[in-house]
Amino acid sequence: MLSKKLEQALNDQIRIEAESSQVYLSMASWAEVKGLEGIAGFMYAHSDEERIHMLKLVKYVNERGGHAQISELKAPKTDFGSFQKLFQELYEHEIFVSESINELVHVTLQEKDYATHNFLQWYVAEQIEEEALARTILDKINLIGNDKGGLYLFDRDVQQITVESAAANPQA
Ligand code: FEO
Repeated sequence: MLSKKLEQALNDQIRIEAESSQVYLSMASWAEVKGLEGIAGFMYAHSDEERIHMLKLVKYVNERGGHAQISELKAPKTDFGSFQKLFQELYEHEIFVSESINELVHVTLQEKDYATHNFLQWYVAEQIEEEALARTILDKINLIGNDKGGLYLFDRDVQQITVESAAANPQA
């Protein structure tokens, strides 16, 4: 049985994962209307992953005798300026998510809930992957600079980064 404090903290994380899904969905839509099909595909896939992160938490909370709360979500912004800024925001958002996961892990230790501590290790590992992926993409973007041909190739290849990482992490 989850303590009330931990149940609340898990519910907060459910909202963060749901909001992350919305943020990436909004990024996907922005990229799609700009004609950046590959980037849009990457963001749609990322949005789906965040929904899976949320669902795993929902099911876990309910399985442990809690009640997963499905709450109202903050609307993400709809304009991201440039594809460089878009990916910078993705990176910063993932750092924010990592910090929230770390806080959550901290609560499991305070509450001496080692089952939840164990369950959350999947998220800890996932955040390492997601931050590394975002950094890899930012490095590629830095190489491109303002080269239009580079953007064309990046837009074509970024979807492959999604496919490759999905293949490397079939559970993600
Ligand atoms: Fe669910 Fe991208 O963190």
